[in-house]
Amino acid sequence: MKLELKNLSKHYGDLKVLDRVSLTLEEIRSLVFIGPSGGGKTTLLRLLAGLERPEEGEILVNDHPVDFHSEESLREYRKRIGMVFQAYNLFPHLTALDNITLPLVKVHGYEPVQAREEALVLLERFHLADQAFKKPAQLSGGQKQRIAICRAVAIRPEFLLLDEPTSALDPEYTSEVLDLIGELREEGMRLILVTHEMGFARQAADYILFVGDGGLIARGTPENLFTGDTDERVSRFFNKVLKYN
Ligand SMILES: Nc1ncnc2c1ncn2[C@@H]1O[C@H](COP(=O)(O)OP(=O)(O)OP(=O)(O)O)[C@@H](O)[C@H]1O
Ligand SMILES: [Mg+2]
Repeated sequence: MKLELKNLSKHYGDLKVLDRVSLTLEEIRSLVFIGPSGGGKTTLLRLLAGLERPEEGEILVNDHPVDFHSEESLREYRKRIGMVFQAYNLFPHLTALDNITLPLVKVHGYEPVQAREEALVLLERFHLADQAFKKPAQLSGGQKQRIAICRAVAIRPEFLLLDEPTSALDPEYTSEVLDLIGELREEGMRLILVTHEMGFARQAADYILFVGDGGLIARGTPENLFTGDTDERVSRFFNKVLKYN
């Protein structure tokens, strides 16, 4: 996908989280945001998801501007995007299967039978068929997050946004979720991902944005960013996060 940000600003009161950020990326498959806590990664992701409105500027996806002025077109835009959050956000009273079928039926107009078929195929493919009739409380953290990813993918989104999908997990479950994301990437799913997993960022990103101090402190391919001469704030961040890896 092609992504353009033009003078994009997002403020909370006096705090300029993003201040006139511009960027053009041609045909990007997987984009990863990294950077310090409070730097604006989630804010940027939520803007891309059409969940926040910018104070100024534009976002263009595949040359189409996101229309932040019309609630109707924002709703339509959001329908085409898959979102996965840190804390799963599964409905606790529904089975894994029903968590996946509900948006298909309620938001995307699938017939219940057809939704169920789609969901079962996905669960099978991602080795989750045995969990189909369990409720979230009966699933491990890794299983819950993989169900949440299945739910986001089931709608066949144009791209998938993931905000720290492994940060709420016990370390033993992190790799199964990262493996699933890696598989989706291999299958051609377009991804925009916030992560603190530097190893994964390095391996799975086509391009990395380092978000902080009101903008993009650095940007580049993983090789550029991890090995090249880069901004001092980026090196400091790497030294800190890689210390115990
Ligand atoms: N709804 C809000 N109202 C006011 N301030 C907000 C709001 N959302 C975020 N902020 C502030 O904006 C800044 C950027 O927050 P954001 O959540 O985008 O950071 P982040 O890079 O995702 O951080 P983390 O790595 O901790 O998740 C922070 O200072 C935060 O306190
Ligand atoms: Mg965040």
